[in-house]
Amino acid sequence: MSSSISYKDVQKTFTGSQLVHALKKISFTIEPGELFCLLGPSGCGKTTLLRCTAGLETLTGGRIFYDDTDVTTIPPFRRNIGMVFQSFALYPHMNVFENVAYGLRVRGTDEATMKRKVAEIMDLVGLPDVLKRNPSPTALSGGQQQRVAVARALVYDPQILLLDEPLANLDAKLRRHMRAEIRRIQKVTNITTIFVTHDQEEAMAIGDRLAIMKDGIIEQIGSSDEIYHNPNNAFVSNFIGKMNFFEGTIMTHKDGQYTVKLDMNNYALSFSPKVAPGLATKEGQRIKVGFRPEHLRIKGEVTEGEVLGRVRIIQHLGQVVRYEVALEAQGNERVIEVDMLGKVQGVAESDQVTIEFPEQVGFIFAEGGEE
Ligand SMILES: Nc1ncnc2c1ncn2[C@@H]1O[C@H](COP(=O)(O)OP(=O)(O)OP(=O)(O)O)[C@@H](O)[C@H]1O
Ligand SMILES: [Mg+2]
Repeated sequence: MSSSISYKDVQKTFTGSQLVHALKKISFTIEPGELFCLLGPSGCGKTTLLRCTAGLETLTGGRIFYDDTDVTTIPPFRRNIGMVFQSFALYPHMNVFENVAYGLRVRGTDEATMKRKVAEIMDLVGLPDVLKRNPSPTALSGGQQQRVAVARALVYDPQILLLDEPLANLDAKLRRHMRAEIRRIQKVTNITTIFVTHDQEEAMAIGDRLAIMKDGIIEQIGSSDEIYHNPNNAFVSNFIGKMNFFEGTIMTHKDGQYTVKLDMNNYALSFSPKVAPGLATKEGQRIKVGFRPEHLRIKGEVTEGEVLGRVRIIQHLGQVVRYEVALEAQGNERVIEVDMLGKVQGVAESDQVTIEFPEQVGFIFAEGGEE
């Protein structure tokens, strides 16, 4: 049976040579059977939250529940958790069978059951032949070792599976393959799973839902679609996908239609954006406007009074052609990205272009705020 995981005001402070508030009053719930991604930059507290979930760290404050059971003070060996650590070290002096069987052996499982369960789980992770050969894990490829690490964590039917950047040591192609494999295995077993990564593409691809973390705080929780289309703030918007920002001042707004004077060339932008939740907008207010690369357009004709830039690099990315365009803003250069569905005729690198802003898209965020 898979269970839910609930965090209630979870805090973790490390006291050492300096005080680190690694988790600051975190509260949310992961549903039973969910594949949940924790995503955030290095040092934001992902591993700490995972270790707290497993009972490997003592909380400074707050409580953690598996279903309705308060597990806050239950030691890790009394919890039924499977874990793959950031460096998924297998035991090099044990063969593959013994590595996978380890969790069953320490639980006193009989030989016959142990053999059956190891065989089942090695089938599930796609390595029945490796089990037949049964070498030392040092004789396996990175991807195979990774599968063995997942098998080792799953073999004793844990209530919860915790994966801390399990694909970090693999090359890009294998990573993409293994993330699909992990999703497949998770859906077959239906074990509530937390998958930690700092790779946004990986999190968006694998997770049923994601939490975006920064500095010990959860900035937003939702499906990748929800977060991509309705980011709470500038940081989240630029962490899940790319966002181009423009500073400006609200001139007028009525019925969701805004006119913003951009600092860039004093350009008067009229559009109907999504406004960040909780942001009260009024005339004269300084704000930050955001556009995704696929929302902006460029054209070769240069029109005075509009937002102008110079093409730095043109990249063909398969489905789109990406234009990196440098804008002149009060002497500061700012580079934006514009994705066009095809190459724009007559526009080459180092040409001057006009940026076009469609009316039906775009975002308004609070002024300042980290990008
Ligand atoms: N045992 C510890 N003692 C002191 N500080 C710690 C300890 N463990 C973590 N920290 C600090 O807590 C913060 C969060 O660390 P954590 O390892 O959770 O980050 P992370 O999000 O997993 O980062 P990464 O993506 O680099 O793995 C960091 O500032 C880190 O230096
Ligand atoms: Mg970590």
